[in-house]
Amino acid sequence: MDVSSLALRTDLAVAALDGTVVDRGDHVAVATPDQPDFYWGNYLVIAPPTTPSTATAWLTRAAAAHCAGAAHVAVAIDAPDGALAPAVTAALRAGGATVETMIAMTCDQPLAAPVPAGVELRRFDRPADWDALFALSISIDPDTPAMRRFLTRRIAARARAAARGEVRWWGAFVDGALVASAGVVPLADGARYQDVQTHAAWRRRGVASAVLAAIAQEARSAGDGDERLGGGTAKIQNSLAGARLVLVVGEDNAAARAAYQRLGFVERDRAVLALVAPPQT
Ligand SMILES: CC(C)(COP(=O)(O)OP(=O)(O)OC[C@H]1O[C@@H](n2cnc3c(N)ncnc32)[C@H](O)[C@@H]1OP(=O)(O)O)[C@@H](O)C(=O)NCCC(=O)NCCS
Repeated sequence: MDVSSLALRTDLAVAALDGTVVDRGDHVAVATPDQPDFYWGNYLVIAPPTTPSTATAWLTRAAAAHCAGAAHVAVAIDAPDGALAPAVTAALRAGGATVETMIAMTCDQPLAAPVPAGVELRRFDRPADWDALFALSISIDPDTPAMRRFLTRRIAARARAAARGEVRWWGAFVDGALVASAGVVPLADGARYQDVQTHAAWRRRGVASAVLAAIAQEARSAGDGDERLGGGTAKIQNSLAGARLVLVVGEDNAAARAAYQRLGFVERDRAVLALVAPPQT
């Protein structure tokens, strides 16, 4: 299957860091067996279903295809205009799915933002940074046992990918405490931002903008040879140099869209995600 939307092409490239991405002709199967509760690490990519019954059938196929231990059903629909037939959306919802539109945005101009007073920006370069990422994430996401299990595995996987030089993580620190973070993954045709977040108490002070700009500025300075992060650092730097910046944001996430637009990101295309979440534990 040729996946056309930038949102999903970059998602698949990121998913391949931790799991498997297999083209099965009429769909692409993504699996991350060591993180079965990672919704967007265990999903199928499909073309827009044309009828309600096809839509329902894909939910059934996704449920059967997911790896052992996955209790959710997730399907990403390659619809670059974000449009699904209303009857298809209704069928997905009737099948228990939430249906959300994602927007891929890119920025081709130099990103700049002032660093707020008292904020230190730096790359993650010590083990405690990953513990701080867990603490920041659980302060933003619902603090449930299931979320804690998910974040523990997910953040450990990110730390491994960072050690391999496949992703680079940045944080904004105030008096040593992490208040905002974002990652960046170099891809064949760009660099994909990951998981931009700011602690609720630090929002609307320009912190996320400063983190994104710091990543972009570092990406522009090729081959600095900084080996603090161990293996792969030079490789990632060379891949990031001059890369077009891509991020993906939910259509309903007005705050994030506003922040990215203000930095100069523009909408490129869309994709639709259908998710049947497991009962929360
Ligand atoms: C989206 C998010 C990262 C923004 O972080 P932030 O540090 O508050 O962003 P900034 O202060 O750099 O915002 C810069 C500009 O973006 C716009 N903006 C940010 N939040 C906004 C909001 N809630 N409503 C409207 N505009 C907003 C404003 O133009 C703001 O500038 P201003 O405060 O001078 O008006 C933060 O709200 C967050 O963590 N949300 C939860 C996680 C999330 O949704 N992450 C994004 C995933 S794609």
